[in-house]
Amino acid sequence: MYSRIIGTGSALPEKSLSNDEFARLLAKDGIETSDEWIRTRTGIVTRYFADPEKGECTTSLAVEAAKNALEAAGVAGDSIDLIIVATTTPDMIFPSTAARVQAALGAQGCAAFDVQAVCAGFIYALNAADAMLRAGPYRRAVVIGAETMSRVIDMKDRSTCVLFGDGAGAVVLESSSDPGVLAARMYADGRFDEKILGLTARVDRGQIVGHPYINMDGRQVFKLAVDGLVNSAREVADLACVRTEDVALFVPHQANLRIMTMVAKKLGIDEAKMVQTVHEHGNTSAASVPLALDRAVREGRVKAGELVLLQAVGAGMAWGSALVRW
Ligand code: ACO
Repeated sequence: MYSRIIGTGSALPEKSLSNDEFARLLAKDGIETSDEWIRTRTGIVTRYFADPEKGECTTSLAVEAAKNALEAAGVAGDSIDLIIVATTTPDMIFPSTAARVQAALGAQGCAAFDVQAVCAGFIYALNAADAMLRAGPYRRAVVIGAETMSRVIDMKDRSTCVLFGDGAGAVVLESSSDPGVLAARMYADGRFDEKILGLTARVDRGQIVGHPYINMDGRQVFKLAVDGLVNSAREVADLACVRTEDVALFVPHQANLRIMTMVAKKLGIDEAKMVQTVHEHGNTSAASVPLALDRAVREGRVKAGELVLLQAVGAGMAWGSALVRW
């Protein structure tokens, strides 16, 4: 048995913010940045920020992405028996985002839970759903990555606030005797802890304790990201008995164009096969891979039978890759 992706969807907030607009915003606090710095260091040009006044939040983006994926798959919400939402920015600590999405999709009664593996979350959720579909009794899952990172960036820290954006992406996954997900692997190394990449705040007896914004050692993250992504891609390729050079569509985590191109080069994947949405979306954490995948699918960039490599890395450190026969 396999699981197959039968539909993809995504959602973005209405409002986008360009690097120039960002620079003007930071300048009000005397903080200097520029389109040139952001673009050359990261590849980012714009990002989308959710507007709570318009009801835009992690759940609303997750629901919209899931509905679009269900429509693309041509299946109804009540046919779903498993919902997994990868998010690091849930609207509340509980109930889970997945439970709230389930209610909106009319899939009452099915299994629904969240996965917290930060930027690697979608790969973790896909891996878990694939294993659950192959083991049964689940037959059809919606796997979502959804984030509102704009709520947790420190607008006084120019080294992190320019990097992130909001959005959601989703896939409908179905058990099948035809090949779909060929191999998926997830990894973590907790020795690279919150000092490298973290958001340490918690709610404790009515108080927010810890720092409520992202902190990051960008250079360390850069190096760890490249190593983890390259190694995990080679591992899934070996498991599936294929070569990374034969990948037809490469959907890397959209954190930084320099990381993406370096990984593609090391894997021998032609850059033309790499999906790039980081320039438009910024780093949307767990949403980045399914958002980029949906864009590529809707642009007709992948054909039946081709190999698709998905991969992500984030805090933990946690990372992983999945190789899919489309
Ligand atoms: N505008 C202008 N200058 C800035 C900005 C900014 N937004 N941010 C930092 N700088 C300055 C720094 O203060 C520093 O100045 P100094 O030399 O006077 O001290 C200078 O630019 C260089 O800073 P570096 O940190 O050395 O810049 P670097 O080339 O390493 O780029 C970056 C930083 C983009 C964060 C890079 O390290 C990176 O992309 N790392 C990966 C991190 C990442 O992708 N994180 C996403 C979350 S995790 C994930 O999704 C994988």
